[in-house]
Amino acid sequence: MGEDRTILWEKRNGVAWVTLNRPESLNVYNLRMRDELYETLSAFRDDDEIRVAVFQGTGEKAFCAGADLSEFLTAASPIRARQSRWQRDVWGLFLQLPQPLIAAVHGYVLGSGLEIALCCDLRIASEDAQFGFPEAGLGIIPAAGGTQTLPRTVGRGHALDLLLCGRRIGAREAWRMGLVSRVVPREKLRQTAGAMARKIASFRSGAVRLAKQALVRGLDLPLAQGLELERRLAGELSSIPSRKP
Ligand code: COA
Repeated sequence: MGEDRTILWEKRNGVAWVTLNRPESLNVYNLRMRDELYETLSAFRDDDEIRVAVFQGTGEKAFCAGADLSEFLTAASPIRARQSRWQRDVWGLFLQLPQPLIAAVHGYVLGSGLEIALCCDLRIASEDAQFGFPEAGLGIIPAAGGTQTLPRTVGRGHALDLLLCGRRIGAREAWRMGLVSRVVPREKLRQTAGAMARKIASFRSGAVRLAKQALVRGLDLPLAQGLELERRLAGELSSIPSRKP
């Protein structure tokens, strides 16, 4: 794939490696990236060979420093700029993917960068990672699902602290609040994400996908309905021959 693309991806042994590729501007999210991300995620949804995907950012300084503010400045209004982003429901698609998704993040993980990480199921950070939602200070609100995915990940108190105060936190604090599940030295980030992805890819794909589905869908249900969902999905799994990958 061309190096000028904002999203690069390749598939290796059941693992899709996705790279945000605008290093000259800290991988900030623009309309072109939105379109290419949408294309990429659409391709994943129907690809049974992809058992797990890892999202990473290119360059030394950032996974993604948020929305491209230069697009905001040239758009008729920030609201208009946001609306055009929503014309393609990238975030809805992201959250519906059946495969486990891993975000391997370093450097700045701000605004929509953090929202991309929150659309993933597992987050690994390098020690230099810095997380935050600068939106409140810019007079806007997160619009890539962050107001919903953040509290579901770290709880209401921590989420409001990050969303309302515009505070930037380091990797250790992110780990303590459950925003990331592992913190590793920068030079081990890719290796750790790769090992995690290969492990998941070695498991029975149907079981992994249904476990993700049970957990993610169940979180939005009352307990009794969640248990019912788990029973139904377990039944579905037992009807799939175990030899099937
Ligand atoms: N939109 C567009 N360009 C951005 C950007 C953004 N959100 N964030 C950084 N860039 C660009 C800078 O303009 C700069 O480009 P240049 O080299 O052509 O001048 C390049 O990326 C490097 O950024 P720089 O500010 O020089 O790096 P830094 O290490 O000094 O600071 C940040 C890094 C992340 C603290 C700082 O860039 C920043 O605060 N960015 C805005 C973050 C933000 O508010 N995101 C929007 C959330 S909605």
